[in-house]
Amino acid sequence: MNNPMDLTGKRILITGAGGGIGSATVRVLNGLGAETVAIDISEEAVGLAQAAAPGRSVPGYVADFKQVEELEPLVKRICDENGRFDGFVHCAGVAPMRPFKMTKYENVLGPMQINFFSFVEIVRVLTAKKDRFADGGSIVAMSSIASVHGKPTKTAYSASKAALDAAVRCMVCDLKKRLIRINTVMPSWVNTAMYQKFLDKYSDSPELREIEERQYMGVSEPEEIANTIAFLLSDATKTITGTSILMDGGISQG
Ligand SMILES: NC(=O)c1ccc[n+]([C@@H]2O[C@H](COP(=O)([O-])OP(=O)(O)OC[C@H]3O[C@@H](n4cnc5c(N)ncnc54)[C@H](OP(=O)(O)O)[C@@H]3O)[C@@H](O)[C@H]2O)c1
Repeated sequence: MNNPMDLTGKRILITGAGGGIGSATVRVLNGLGAETVAIDISEEAVGLAQAAAPGRSVPGYVADFKQVEELEPLVKRICDENGRFDGFVHCAGVAPMRPFKMTKYENVLGPMQINFFSFVEIVRVLTAKKDRFADGGSIVAMSSIASVHGKPTKTAYSASKAALDAAVRCMVCDLKKRLIRINTVMPSWVNTAMYQKFLDKYSDSPELREIEERQYMGVSEPEEIANTIAFLLSDATKTITGTSILMDGGISQG
């Protein structure tokens, strides 16, 4: 039977590829037949991405997304060395929690560079030339429910995710001539190191009990997010663009 999510022959670039959602994405996309290329902040993280697809070749690159100006030469080199991409997934991200009165400019700048500026820069450089990104390709960024839900300590994080969602709606207009689709995924808590850090800090707290109560369908597993990313990259969603898919375990409506 034809699998509408088959990604055979598609080459996909993934940032934050060694992280919880990133490595699940490498695993799921390879399972669907895609070729994946990984970027992460360290050799160790790139190794985690490669380990997610045993027996497959996953070329890896190291970059610190705080150095946004270094991304243009890196993306050009990645395209020269690997060929044209059909998809791009931005999973790199940080989620600092900081009381607002201690949130200085530099505390906002870091999350904006990693979560948002790097995404815009990579999309710009990738899509600038047809031999870097295919017509009809698909781009997915990891947003968060924090984009639309206000919480104390999350000013920088929420702003960076809202910026992603807003930018995607504009980039659609620039990419439509080439039928390149661009969307975000907005989860609530996902069971990765990011969530474990939160649990370490807030175990047995009212904050945690509130999450358990409100996210009543449960905390997502990284593979569930990766499945949605694969869906957005595939021909099954040929007409979905400029939108954000909520995966919040019921928080918003429950
Ligand atoms: N987990 C959740 O509950 C949740 C919920 C909603 C949205 N999200 C979003 O989903 C995305 C992935 O989250 P995750 O849970 O998979 O987090 P994760 O496991 O911490 O993965 C994030 C990845 O980004 C990399 N990274 C961090 N700083 C970087 C930098 N300066 N330059 C380049 N790469 C950098 C990390 O590398 P190192 O780990 O080696 O530092 C890691 O590989 C993030 O954008 C996050 O905001 C997560």
